Amino acid sequence: MSEKTTQLRESFVSALSAVDNMEALEAIRVEYLGKKGLVTELLKDMKNLSPEEKKTFGQAVNVLKEEVTEMVAGKREEIKQAEIERENNLMPEFDISAPANLDRGSYHPITLVQRQCEEIFRSMGFAVEDYSEIVTDYECFEALNIPKNHPARDMQDTYYLENGQLLKSHTSAAQNAIYKKYKDALINESKPIKAIFPGRCFRNEATDACHENTFFQMEGVMVDKNISISNLIFFMKTMLSEVFQKDIKVRLRPGFFPFVEPGFELDISCLICGGEGCASCKHSGWLELCPCGMIHPEVLRAGGIDPEEYTGFAFGLGLTRLAMMKYGVKDIRDLNSGSLKVLSQFTDDK
Ligand code: PHE
Repeated sequence: MSEKTTQLRESFVSALSAVDNMEALEAIRVEYLGKKGLVTELLKDMKNLSPEEKKTFGQAVNVLKEEVTEMVAGKREEIKQAEIERENNLMPEFDISAPANLDRGSYHPITLVQRQCEEIFRSMGFAVEDYSEIVTDYECFEALNIPKNHPARDMQDTYYLENGQLLKSHTSAAQNAIYKKYKDALINESKPIKAIFPGRCFRNEATDACHENTFFQMEGVMVDKNISISNLIFFMKTMLSEVFQKDIKVRLRPGFFPFVEPGFELDISCLICGGEGCASCKHSGWLELCPCGMIHPEVLRAGGIDPEEYTGFAFGLGLTRLAMMKYGVKDIRDLNSGSLKVLSQFTDDK
């Protein structure tokens, strides 16, 4: 009879060795230890045994049950450790209390991420453009299909200057100038408009670990004949997979911005758990990263481009957010702190 318990033990051990996540562990725990589990089922065979045999067999089953329970607990701990390790690997050497290494200068983490993105987009034929931090109301809003008094202005609590200009609240403020700069080449020479424009943005935010009044975005636009959402997905996926050095899954959810139609929020599969669900992604498996969409016909028209003939996509990548994810910076305020103790920890070889 104890042969049966030995056999079951063996089959459990081999099944357990293939388990590498909590869901699979729970499934095998129920399969063996559940009310109708394989271990419990063994006891059903007892009814035809002599009292003496019953005693030995019962004991063997109990021992098996304890062993299986213990092995499940051991495995649970192992998976938990592996998860922590995976998390630590992704958030490598950032430690706010580490001593400053001031022997040599270092780049700011946002500069590092920005340069990396620029390189990737350049290799895909995009021009890199710079733009002013002080812009007009027309550039920041009206040319983007946000007229005066439109409620969408409330989404961005903007700093206005006394002369009526403002600190740009998003990099989209450069879109109009970019279209005007490149439209002749598009129309006369059939050269698609492909440009990215990173920049510093300002909004009146109550600051906390996730909000700052000064942050970086990187806008990108592509305009040509027959540009569709698939082009947008392709470029975003390629760029993010390069930045994080692994294949990144993306998904689009509907999102509202007056200058795109349709508009989306682009999510990426969680970098910590790979999409299985963990505390960092609030157990959804996804992280919100980049608003985007197909450029609104009115916005193309304001840039001197005929929307009947041309279409395009635009995205507004949160560079600050990307740098935080890549380097494991949990508090956005560290980035603007000017503290060399923090900022000297980042090098471009990570
Ligand atoms: N400019 C928008 C923002 O900062 C983001 C965005 C850019 C959305 C491009 C769609 C397309 O909120």
